[in-house]
Amino acid sequence: MNFTILFNVFALFFATLFALGSAAPLQARDVYVPPITYPHAGTVWKIGNHHNVTWDVSNPPQNITNSIGFIELVTNGRITGPTLASNFSILLGRIEVQVPDVKPGPYQLVLFGDSGNDSPIFHITK
Ligand SMILES: *[C@@H]1O[C@H](CO)[C@@H](O)[C@H](O)[C@H]1NC(C)=O
Ligand SMILES: *[C@@H]1O[C@H](CO)[C@@H](O)[C@H](O)[C@H]1NC(C)=O
Ligand SMILES: *[C@@H]1O[C@H](CO)[C@@H](O)[C@H](O)[C@H]1NC(C)=O
Repeated sequence: MNFTILFNVFALFFATLFALGSAAPLQARDVYVPPITYPHAGTVWKIGNHHNVTWDVSNPPQNITNSIGFIELVTNGRITGPTLASNFSILLGRIEVQVPDVKPGPYQLVLFGDSGNDSPIFHITK
């Protein structure tokens, strides 16, 4: 699935925030896109339940450009439903989310920090 356009929009957004917020040289900082480890392919989430989304933080770069993350639900390449979590440190490695009341079916999560990383396809049921 291709999120390039979406990424560019967010990259521009964060680049702007960064330019406004800091005078540190950009080249001294690193883009960090940790892979999502849960949910995985075959995971089934029931609407209303709480789950910890997890991702691999075993090898972060020294200087992360943007360490504040948010998580969106994606279906057919489009963000769907409410933002699942926002304003957390992507160095945490997990964040608890509540499954929103969306149409049951296949979904992916996208974890945004500097850029975005999508989970395997999992399922949401009633
Ligand atoms: C991280 O940032 C510090 C301070 O800006 C700099 O001295 C250091 O060289 C940077 N490290 C890397 C790996 O970019
Ligand atoms: C999420 O992880 C935290 C810390 O390990 C734990 O306290 C909490 O119960 C977990 N939530 C769920 C829904 O498993
Ligand atoms: C984001 O999180 C920080 C630290 O937990 C907190 O101080 C800040 O108020 C939060 N901002 C928003 C918009 O929720």
